[in-house]
Parts: sequence; structure tokens; C-alpha cells
Amino acid sequence: MSQVHVSTHPLVLHKLTILRDQKTEPKRFRELVRELSLILIAEATAGLPVSPVTVTTPMGQAQGWEMKDRIGLVPILRAGLGMVEGALEMLPFSEVWHIGLYRDERTLRPVQYYNKLPVNPTVQVCIVLDPMLATGGSATATIDILKKWGAERILYVGLIGSPEGVRHMQTDHPDVPIYLAAIDDHLNEVGYIVPGLGDAGDRQFGTA
Ligand code: PRP
Ligand code: URA
Repeated sequence: MSQVHVSTHPLVLHKLTILRDQKTEPKRFRELVRELSLILIAEATAGLPVSPVTVTTPMGQAQGWEMKDRIGLVPILRAGLGMVEGALEMLPFSEVWHIGLYRDERTLRPVQYYNKLPVNPTVQVCIVLDPMLATGGSATATIDILKKWGAERILYVGLIGSPEGVRHMQTDHPDVPIYLAAIDDHLNEVGYIVPGLGDAGDRQFGTA
């Protein structure tokens, strides 16, 4: 069963509340997505391995550590794009591989339109970025793609999940830990998270 981590960081609680507010404009919305991603990435990477290194300080030698694995950030287009900047601030050495999916409005099934992954995996850890885990169709389809590609270790980092989306992930990908800022009440009849924040892509890019 996938581990589900819901942040209790006071800054996450505070920033998520402003993000949800329908009065929050796209500019502030994008800033908040970036800031929340930064904190959630710090929480999600807490268990990744490090290797010992020696560093020379102005005063002598010190024992230090460096991240052991190569990391790939995998934002799901379009809304996942907003999480990349914050994630890259924390993991500036990572590669970024985009997967393009949109939800068919009628069936709510994901439709893939972009994938430029190289033939063989170039990273040991993939971090899937997408603010909304609604039905879970987009996240599970992306993880299917990454597993077929040969990804060894996958983490999912999002902002708001629904109970249905979390269950879908746990059924299809029990090995993938899920990091979120909140799990909301339910999905409505057209697949939107309630209370959620509306359409994350539209709110970031001003296309509502
Ligand atoms: C949103 C969101 C997720 C997906 C979640 O994307 O960013 O990718 O819906 O829903 P699901 O869990 O039911 O699959 P959308 O399809 O609206 O595309 P966009 O990011 O281009 O706006
Ligand atoms: N996609 C969104 O952007 N918001 C939702 O509530 C569900 C899917």
C-alpha cells in the first residue's frame, strides 16, 4: 500500500488556504504553487540516500554529504509546469522530463499528447509533479509510462488529492509514495475536487 504523506507544515497550511481562495489572481497563484512545491519537495526527498564527501572549508576539511541518485522531475502538462520552478530550486541538479496529458471531459480518462522521454532511463528517482490528484487517472497513467520506461524509484508530489484519487494510486501503484498538502472531501459529478481550488491549470495560466 502506498504511503500517503499529508503535510502538516504551518506554511503549507497557510499558503494552501490562500491558493484555494477564488479571489487569488494567477500571478499570486503561480507564486504560491512554486512556494508550496519547494516545501513539499523538501518533505518528499527526506528519505533519499546521500553519499559521504569531504569538503574544504576556509578553516580545514569537513565531512559532508551529497545526494546519491540522479533525479528526474516529471511535470504533467499543463498544471504540473507550475511546480517545476520550486522543485528545481531545491534540486537544481535534476533533469526535467515533461509528460503531456489532458483529461477527456466526458470520460475523465487521460489522453496522452506529449512524451519525449529518452529511450533508456537516465535517472534513478523520478518525481511526478501535478497539483491535482482527482480521479487519479493522469497520475497513474504517467506512472505506467515511467515504469514501462524502466524507472526504478518513483515519488508523486501534488497539492490536493481526493480520497478517490489516492485509492486509485494505491491500487495501481502501491509502491509509489504520495506527498500532498491536503486530501479533500470528494470528487463532484464532473470529476472536480471539492472543495479543492477549481481548475489548477486555468488558475495558473489565466485561461478560466
Ligand atoms: C488536471 C490536473 C491533472 C488532472 C487531474 O489537468 O492538472 O493533470 O487534471 O485529474 P485526474 O486525477 O482526474 O486525472 P487537466 O486534464 O485539466 O489538464 P491541464 O493541466 O492541461 O489543465
Ligand atoms: N483538475 C483540476 O485542475 N482540478 C480538479 O479539481 C480536478 C482536476
